[in-house]
Amino acid sequence: MNLQRIFSLLITACLLAAFSAAAQDGQLDLSSAGDSLYPELGSSGFDVQHYTIRLQTPMDENAITAEAIITAVATADLEQFNLDLVSLNIDNLTVNGESAEFSRSGSELMILLPQPLSAGDSFEVVIQYHGMPTPTQDPSLGARLGWNFADGLVYVVSEPDGAQTWFPANDHPSDKATFTLEITVPEGFVVAANGVLEETTTQDGQTTFRWEMRQPMATYLATVNIDRYVEFESESAEGVPLRNYLPERYSRFNDRVFGRQGEMVDYFSNIFGPYPFDAYGAVVVDQPLGFALETQTISLFGSSILMGDADDVVAHELAHQWFGNSISLEDWSDIWLNEGFASYAEWLWLEHTEGPDARDAAIAEAYGFMSGDGWQEFGLTNAQIRAELMSMGLTGSPDPDNLFNAAVYYRGGLTLHALRLVVGDDAFFEILRTYAGQYTYGNATTDDFFAIAEAISGRNLEKFKRDWLYVIQIPSIPAMRLFPPNLGDSN
Ligand code: TRP
Ligand code: ZN
Repeated sequence: MNLQRIFSLLITACLLAAFSAAAQDGQLDLSSAGDSLYPELGSSGFDVQHYTIRLQTPMDENAITAEAIITAVATADLEQFNLDLVSLNIDNLTVNGESAEFSRSGSELMILLPQPLSAGDSFEVVIQYHGMPTPTQDPSLGARLGWNFADGLVYVVSEPDGAQTWFPANDHPSDKATFTLEITVPEGFVVAANGVLEETTTQDGQTTFRWEMRQPMATYLATVNIDRYVEFESESAEGVPLRNYLPERYSRFNDRVFGRQGEMVDYFSNIFGPYPFDAYGAVVVDQPLGFALETQTISLFGSSILMGDADDVVAHELAHQWFGNSISLEDWSDIWLNEGFASYAEWLWLEHTEGPDARDAAIAEAYGFMSGDGWQEFGLTNAQIRAELMSMGLTGSPDPDNLFNAAVYYRGGLTLHALRLVVGDDAFFEILRTYAGQYTYGNATTDDFFAIAEAISGRNLEKFKRDWLYVIQIPSIPAMRLFPPNLGDSN
């Protein structure tokens, strides 16, 4: 080990000691947004207003050179603060124009303020960085999260914690912000990102695309997709601008898979309230990925999704623009507020297009799966079925390693249908509209949703909420004659 290396290690050790001493002064854990499932995500003590990410990538290798300009407001008196950033090399870091000392430990970036801040102060952080983004492995879906470079294209899927693989972030949905994404690529490539494409300029064989996301966005919903895309522009009947980006060889899928997107936007706007963003559309990644993600204003679809009948997935990702994107989670444990609602929206679309019988058939099938009834025909013993249902966990309190599972998606959707049958259609749709309206661009919890449901229905829903979200045994839906089978006791 050379002297210089020892010296820099010593400096880092001293900085770390200084940081932890300072952190002990206040009660705030600066390195956490306080999430119950993912305490390592995000930070406390400030509120990001806007991220400007200027990023350049050569596209013949996995490499980025970037500058992040973060404007934020201190929510506490601060001498230091944290951001999340996975690997990547920091070349320069300033706060309010003064160069700032920082240290790193894992994905925590700790920044010492050149001048202390008081609660309420605005500040600007500028970070120049470069390197080879390294996606992280998602425990529940097996997706590679964050900035993915593969076969000469780039796609970004980050739920829940991939954003920090490509920009320094307060990486938790409780801190939403507006975004400018200014991405420079070799001429010929097209960049599909969030919001509205404001400007495209080409110089010296490089094209810069400037995308503006003008409504608040959670970090995991930020996306940059780079390929030789064909763009399809249109508008819903009610006037919501639509733009889809597909690789040339998938062009013909635009009509087949996304042909009814405009109708869906107008239908959901009608029942949930106005579409919350400036535009909508889809981007297709030319990789055989079996997932889709509700990246804000431009949902992302792996090419494998295009092969079957994708109407349900298209409706699902669109519904997330209201439930998940416009209204975001305060805590990841409430993930059913995203996935249960988007899953229920698939059944609403089915009801709208094929009628209530088709809807009921789909709901009965999901109930059979979630109650264990539908498993008996596969020759599983009752004990095996009980074990399967146990392993999925609770809809309202999932395991952090198994966030995106059937108890969250299907039982979450069933919870909403059961609620509809208890309170009646008029109250139910008023509940959905009021919830979507009241928390537009904000954050909500399960209790916030049930407070609205109770106020509108005039019912006490405590027991309903507990039985559907926090008990393993699924409740019955008597109005549909759906009852859980007797699987024996759990000994
Ligand atoms: N939210 C996505 C959906 O239901 C699923 C999802 C969760 C996902 N984490 C992801 C997709 C990571 C891609 C990458 O539509
Ligand atoms: Zn979803």
